[in-house]
Amino acid sequence: MFEALTPVSEMLARNLDTLSRQPLLVCGLLEDNLPGLLAEAGPAPRVFTTDFRYFQWQQGQGLADIEFGASPGARPAAGLLLLMPKAKAEAEYLLAACLPLLAVGAPVFIAGDNKGGVKAAPKLLAPYCGQVNKLDSARRASLYQAELTTLPSPFILADWVNRYAMEEEQLQICTLPGVFSAGHLDSGSRLLLNSITTLKGRVLDFGCGAGVIGASLLKRHPGLELECIDINALALEASRLTLAENRLEGRVYASDGLSQVNGKFDHIISNPPFHAGLKTFYHTTETLLSSAVDYLKPGGSLILVANAFLPYPELIEKSFGHCDTLAANGKFKIYRASR
Ligand SMILES: C[S@@+](CC[C@H](N)C(=O)[O-])C[C@H]1O[C@@H](n2cnc3c(N)ncnc32)[C@H](O)[C@@H]1O
Repeated sequence: MFEALTPVSEMLARNLDTLSRQPLLVCGLLEDNLPGLLAEAGPAPRVFTTDFRYFQWQQGQGLADIEFGASPGARPAAGLLLLMPKAKAEAEYLLAACLPLLAVGAPVFIAGDNKGGVKAAPKLLAPYCGQVNKLDSARRASLYQAELTTLPSPFILADWVNRYAMEEEQLQICTLPGVFSAGHLDSGSRLLLNSITTLKGRVLDFGCGAGVIGASLLKRHPGLELECIDINALALEASRLTLAENRLEGRVYASDGLSQVNGKFDHIISNPPFHAGLKTFYHTTETLLSSAVDYLKPGGSLILVANAFLPYPELIEKSFGHCDTLAANGKFKIYRASR
């Protein structure tokens, strides 16, 4: 899945002399075994990822120094390599979280696809570094280099939380950079919530994002036993904050699809992922549709929202034998299937 080097890493491979002068803290959009490449050329890097799938894959590769979470541990680092994430706000967040671990004079590198916003590197580094140089550019990717000149203030995650209100449910939703539907409730998730009337027992919010679905359902049905899963550490942190801020209780944990989920549920509810990353295509939803039935109690149901054009009803019928459409508007449909 992460085997082939991305064009960004191929460009970085021409710069290993510079990059491997010190052990780097590497973070951002990691989609291949760049850490292995760095380790072959010099001191092994320390990797910090917010992506649980990448974390598990790198662990399988035997790379010892890898952390998964919303921010890196407090250990000092000799330099930083940020692989430009998709959202600029996430790049700002990662720099604020990682740069306090460096000493003044330490090297800071930003690399990325030219179409993925890497050209913003000089602006992103302006608050921390005096001069930013473009070190290389090839294969539609660029590498920027700078030196830390201003020691950043310690990272405080709470400073990065944005909030919005869900008036109908009287909920405050907490979000973090790069988390799905940062400033408002997604209209698909709203249609899903409005289509659900009765619920009981153990409920899984699959791909919880900022926790909007789980928190809303729990507010309406206080007896529910809620579990929220996501692959993204910032989404998990946002969900935890959303539940805590609204005095709701649920279990929030990392899972790539249903891989870390145990036992059976009365309901699995989701606004599932459907788009591709810059490189990886997610088969997550197709796998959910074919395996959800094994994670439901008898009489339990899968309820999800999807873009109306996606061929999900056929996939649901294949594993459940039927698929009901609970609601539809021009853009979205709500599907339900019971075991
Ligand atoms: C369309 S968003 C929905 C977020 C939230 N439930 C809402 O309604 O606003 C889909 C979520 O699925 C998560 N996701 C993507 N791939 C995943 C995977 N393999 N396993 C679990 N969650 C995943 C994404 O990080 C994202 O938060």
